[in-house]
Amino acid sequence: MNLTRKLAVSACVVAVALSACSRQEEGGGEVEVLHWWTSGGEARSVAELKKMLEERGDSWKDFAVAGGGGETAMTVLKSRVVSGNPPTAAQVKGPGIQEWAREGVLANLNSVAQAGDWDNLLPGVVSAVMKYEGNYVAVPVNVHRVNWMWANPAVFEQAGANIPTTWDEFKAAADKIEAAGFIAVAHGGQPWQDSTLFESIALGIGGASWYQKAFVELDEAALNSPTMVKAFDTLRMVQSYIDKDAANRDWNLATAMVINGKAAMQFMGDWAKGEFTAADKVPGTDYICMPAPGTAGSFTFNIDSFIMFEQKDESAITAQAHLAEAIMDPAFQEVFNLNKGSIPVRLGMDLSKFDQCAKDSSAEFASSSMNNKLVPSWAHEMAMPPANKGAMFDVVTAFINTPGMSSNDAAAGMANAGKL
Ligand code: GAL
Repeated sequence: MNLTRKLAVSACVVAVALSACSRQEEGGGEVEVLHWWTSGGEARSVAELKKMLEERGDSWKDFAVAGGGGETAMTVLKSRVVSGNPPTAAQVKGPGIQEWAREGVLANLNSVAQAGDWDNLLPGVVSAVMKYEGNYVAVPVNVHRVNWMWANPAVFEQAGANIPTTWDEFKAAADKIEAAGFIAVAHGGQPWQDSTLFESIALGIGGASWYQKAFVELDEAALNSPTMVKAFDTLRMVQSYIDKDAANRDWNLATAMVINGKAAMQFMGDWAKGEFTAADKVPGTDYICMPAPGTAGSFTFNIDSFIMFEQKDESAITAQAHLAEAIMDPAFQEVFNLNKGSIPVRLGMDLSKFDQCAKDSSAEFASSSMNNKLVPSWAHEMAMPPANKGAMFDVVTAFINTPGMSSNDAAAGMANAGKL
């Protein structure tokens, strides 16, 4: 028995009444968790999960695969599962959960879910995605909003520019920012970041109901439409304000450019807020969170979750249950999301410790859902099967990297990508 476990067990002898102790006494298994949370804010967040698991007497084997958006992590996961050696849990989202479940390799989490009352503590749209054929196979962590713009108000002030609410205003502001010697848009030239940017532009140009038709229903007429052409025209315009060193820059380094006052804006989900928080920056003063131009009232959601792979060993099964239980624990939901920049996925949480950006996100999550303006983020695996998403990434990144590619060709490419 290791020291931590010995201490945990003796503490339980003294305080048998604490329910946490019974969980600790059962502990002692290992969980290997695949994730891609390696930036400053992300690492602080995942450290909280590790801590809570260790408090339950289990050990954490970190399986971090760097690369924002998780594409590399997914490739590594496939090879581990194919070789018959899956981790205990892996960060997998949206329709990808169903694809893994169909392979028959996932564990059934119903008993933890029933004990924890997940059916009542999760929004129905969320629990539906976590289940396969009525059984829980994944556990959700948070709700990220993707259609954010992060702005450095000091840079705007020095440039005499206003923070934009439309893409026309964006252009006017970006010209002033460049004239004042700053980079207008901090961006990293990686496919998932290109599509994250394009997703927000498209939502701002086309609105939520067109977005739903195009990126969720994969409707050919919506995909290959004048609205899509206009969205690509706007992407071309925005692209002209990205600096020449953007190729392959990691997203958190782009966030750092806004934090350090080198750049004025970044279009990125609220995991970017985790970087501002880790740098001790205060929202409303040091930085501003605003919906991306044209997207106020709409909400592109990105829900992180973990799928759990079937285990043979009894202690691994118990440790896996502890992991699932810890993720839905209110204390974890609070501390994790405070660091991560997201909001808790568990309903009824007290948000008093959260900042204004999170409170706005929570309010907009609720109101957008009532107004049919809550849409899944396709750039973050929420909206369409991974194959379609991959094909759309290729179109958007080809467009960005090919100055001669027309918006019409790109729109036709998106329609083809929707047909796979
Ligand atoms: C997203 C993920 C977020 C964040 C981001 C950058 O796909 O949902 O939690 O980590 O990638 O790594």
